[in-house]
Amino acid sequence: MTSLHLTDRLGGLAFGGDYNPEQWDEPVWKEDDELMRRARVNLATVGVFSWALLEPEEGRYDFAWLDTHVDRLHANGVAVDLATPTASPPPWFTLAHPDALTVRPDGTRLTHGSRDTYCLTAPAYRNASRRIAGALAERYGDHPALALWHVHNEYATLCYCDHTAAAFRVWLRDRHGSLDALNEAWGTAFWSQRYGSWEQVLPPRATNWHKNPGQQLDFHRFWSDEVIAAYREQRETIRAHSDRPVTTNLMLPAYQNMDLWALARELDVVSSDQYPSAPGLDAAADAAFHADRARSLGGGRPWLLMEQGTNTVYDRDRVLAKEPGDVLRHTLGHIARGSEGALFFQWRQSRAGAETWHSGMVPHAGSDSRIFREVTQTGEAVARLGELAGSTVTGSVAVLHDADAWWALGVDGLPSAGLDYHAALGRAHRALWDAGVTVDFAHPGHDLGRYPLVVAPALFLLSDEAAENLRRYVAGGGTLLVQHASGYVDDRLHARLGGYPAPPLREALGIRVEEYRPLRRDERLTLSDGSHGTVWSESVRADGAQTLAAYTHGMLADRPALTRHRFGTGQGWYLSTLLDDTAYAALVARLLGEAGVGPEVQGLPRRVEAVTRHAPDGRRWRFLISHRTEPVPLPEPAHDLLTGGPVSELPPGGCVVLRIA
Ligand code: GAL
Repeated sequence: MTSLHLTDRLGGLAFGGDYNPEQWDEPVWKEDDELMRRARVNLATVGVFSWALLEPEEGRYDFAWLDTHVDRLHANGVAVDLATPTASPPPWFTLAHPDALTVRPDGTRLTHGSRDTYCLTAPAYRNASRRIAGALAERYGDHPALALWHVHNEYATLCYCDHTAAAFRVWLRDRHGSLDALNEAWGTAFWSQRYGSWEQVLPPRATNWHKNPGQQLDFHRFWSDEVIAAYREQRETIRAHSDRPVTTNLMLPAYQNMDLWALARELDVVSSDQYPSAPGLDAAADAAFHADRARSLGGGRPWLLMEQGTNTVYDRDRVLAKEPGDVLRHTLGHIARGSEGALFFQWRQSRAGAETWHSGMVPHAGSDSRIFREVTQTGEAVARLGELAGSTVTGSVAVLHDADAWWALGVDGLPSAGLDYHAALGRAHRALWDAGVTVDFAHPGHDLGRYPLVVAPALFLLSDEAAENLRRYVAGGGTLLVQHASGYVDDRLHARLGGYPAPPLREALGIRVEEYRPLRRDERLTLSDGSHGTVWSESVRADGAQTLAAYTHGMLADRPALTRHRFGTGQGWYLSTLLDDTAYAALVARLLGEAGVGPEVQGLPRRVEAVTRHAPDGRRWRFLISHRTEPVPLPEPAHDLLTGGPVSELPPGGCVVLRIA
């Protein structure tokens, strides 16, 4: 087990980032030391993509350069988060093992020249990864600078090669037991897909029309297990030489090909990277969405923001800037929601190479710059929050997330491309965030009893057990909102017969969906309460539920669109279309009211985030983060950790961290 919590070793919360000194030379390293002191950096992630330097030829290691930097950082009071470099194999490796290069679904084998170009199932890759992880652990495992192990980087690369096919078959045999069971699960009786031997079964490679959805879903599950196995191999290799905590950085909220609940259970500390895709208030909302996901994946344990950008918003084909003050606001937004600090990618903006235009803590302009001044100000703020280490955050509403449900909305042949799992989750979170409520994410199979309100925005796939769990939740007094196209299929992607959703949920919601009617791209339906629905509609039969809003036109006229059902001592709500933003916000406000959930702080105006961290001994701290342009008076003066004195007002765009009773 691990010897010390990260924050004990650091003596406070973490602040720093990816550090790639190999891109620079000695005068710059000297300046780095000085600037890191100024910015109060206490943790640097080293070696993430350094495999070619650490092992210039197979089996020949060169640690001298890394020794220099690890010792230098240590002497400068900066602890090390040491990465295994396995996200970027060196050229010698891929030349020697072309069978370990990624193969795309269409059979194209990629070539060397970027990063993340490897196949996780290739034996040569797995062996080489274990070897380099072991060599690093042996050398640095008990180095006094070492605070954390960072296995790999953002596991995400999928591969469809023959190694993968072989491993997939082994996994399928284990899951299904027999070929007959696989044929039954995948519905291969149709389209002449029946398999007569295991050798005939392949990964879902490019084919002419719809791929088999069961095959697609199982491939995701298989890949997720493969990632976990690869992570475990490195973790166990490291643990043989080192007692420091081990993690791998997730990339929440959108981009992971794995069951994050399962992977998070393997991590000593959950860590994750966040890059918003829209600037301004949307970026702050995205940070909160990210942070609530990261905390929830670890069951509420403290977690760590492993990467963010000082000035990076990825808007598809361009990198947008953040607003002045966002470095502090986003950093505190994450810490407020349980992160034990804030790290960035990367310390110094690259002068050359693939990520020259990704922002850094020290930008191209150098230390005499707005960005470095904001970094320094943020480092000073984080340094004042040491007493929060180990404290946690509890949400008062849960939004349900399940990897199977996510993947189920990614298979071929669905009735509408408008069913966007990630967007649905983000929208539910955003409405609750706007309402000032702290949100947890939970799995539909979790014990939900402590949440007065649970929102299930996109459970297209719902297992029998999870459906029963949700029924029990409502029967026991919970308020549950289920949104359109939920519970349509079981965990083998077989459609529920006799009407949707799964029977236990039909009982709890008091409805039966008889027919789905996806809408055209630009179609907008008016409901009886004046709200509007897009994307999807359903022919719903109330079976005990009360209709709160109905469709008004066409064959659905007078049919329920929004229903409420008293069941046991709870309430099951069903919404059968995608409501417009204003109406959705009003619905969420109504549900919060009925479930008795208030905002974190009563009376605050919108666009002021409020979150509370709790210590096991009863101490509490309240974060207030303003996204407003005018000052906001506080209900009563309180001690602010950031200024070290009493405050009575939140300045425009400002942040306070209050010690509260
Ligand atoms: C992250 C990745 C970093 C860097 C960063 C900025 O996803 O882990 O290595 O690439 O994005 O693009």
